[in-house]
Amino acid sequence: MHLLIEGGNKLSGLVTIEGAKNAVLPACAASLLTDEPVVIHRAPPLRDVRTIIAVIEELGKEVTYADGTISILPTGTLRPRASKEHVERMRASFLVLGPLLARLGRAVVPLPGGCTIGPRPVDYHLQGLRALGARVREDEDAVVLTAGRLRGARFRLPYPSVGATEQLLMAASLAKGETFIENPSREPEVLDLVELLRKMGARIEEDEGMLAVEGVDGLHGAEHAVIPDRLEAGTYLIAGAITGGRVTAAGVRPAHLAALTAVLERTGARVELSGEAVTVEGGGRPRPVEVETAPFPGFPTDLQPPLVALLSLAEGGSTVRDPVFPRRFGYVEELKRMGARISVSAGMAHITGVGDLHGAALTSPDIRAGAALVLAALAARGESRIDGLGQLDRGYAALEGKLKGLGAEIERREDT
Ligand code: UD1
Repeated sequence: MHLLIEGGNKLSGLVTIEGAKNAVLPACAASLLTDEPVVIHRAPPLRDVRTIIAVIEELGKEVTYADGTISILPTGTLRPRASKEHVERMRASFLVLGPLLARLGRAVVPLPGGCTIGPRPVDYHLQGLRALGARVREDEDAVVLTAGRLRGARFRLPYPSVGATEQLLMAASLAKGETFIENPSREPEVLDLVELLRKMGARIEEDEGMLAVEGVDGLHGAEHAVIPDRLEAGTYLIAGAITGGRVTAAGVRPAHLAALTAVLERTGARVELSGEAVTVEGGGRPRPVEVETAPFPGFPTDLQPPLVALLSLAEGGSTVRDPVFPRRFGYVEELKRMGARISVSAGMAHITGVGDLHGAALTSPDIRAGAALVLAALAARGESRIDGLGQLDRGYAALEGKLKGLGAEIERREDT
């Protein structure tokens, strides 16, 4: 399958935002911490969501997923081994490690391989779990963790990693005694997991920049609606800006989008906030800006590729540095095939804005890079073809339908 996009239409209207994929994935992993039902609302129909469901089914849960609600029930057996196929398909499957270890005293999970946004190690996850008492060894290409009851510890993350913070929060919730996670990630999706864990009976407090977890003997079931997807919302808002249209993302938390809307305003776009909606109106060529990604509340690395697509059309030179994932610039070669003038060195893109982009045949290397290519194609002269939809479908539900609703000319076609 591929997408055909005829660029040049101004996108206008309202798009309803799904629940956050990156909140659903840890929530499903957290269901392994209890033998009672866990119900997750607002789960978007995405490939990554189906993958995490397959992972927890394989580990011993019975799952139904309908109308955005995932209901997770125990089957009576919890198995300690996740299969390679799932972790290879989606790195976030690695999040089952902490819960399995805490519940079973043993977990065998394949190591996530390298991926298109550069090396993504899991050393902080393993160091943290070791601090809680796990013994760690590598067995072919999986990690094998064993432990008696985990015990609370003080652990300082070398970097506020999202995945490592989530992993440690889940494991520490069932440890004996208190765990202090220093330098934790404070992304909205992490705090959403904290909310779910608290509903399950976990005792977690934020304390002077630390997360303090008082371990409990058992957790119970809970029901939870995840936060809106700020990355999906951000992508559609940039679509408004790049096409010179006016797009409203509805059902969002504007505070989660503050870093993006501040940058969009600096490029000259108009931003309106009202309750649970954010509207972005483009107009004329964007002004160039200098931007650096950072952990929340900084500019999110996931919106770096869509932002670079926008700045490729700016009136002047911009720079975008991505210290979070310095190698997340693979898609730049594709943008250059559309006429963009960008060079990348040392984790930084130097973008010389051009007056227009032209359609081209493109391949989407990862989720957000794919979004950048779609945005560029929407603004370009002529037709673009985008292959690699498997990646886009991991993160964007009903992409063509939503874009068509805003006035885009976009079709999904079978490969011939
Ligand atoms: C999560 C998000 C992803 C987002 C990223 C950063 C999910 C499913 N994915 O990914 O969309 O782009 O946060 O906001 O929520 N690092 C290490 N060792 C580790 C762990 C991380 O060196 O053990 C490094 C990474 O290589 C990277 C940085 O820390 O340079 C941030 O990674 P991290 O926050 O862990 O990202 P993920 O949780 O994988």
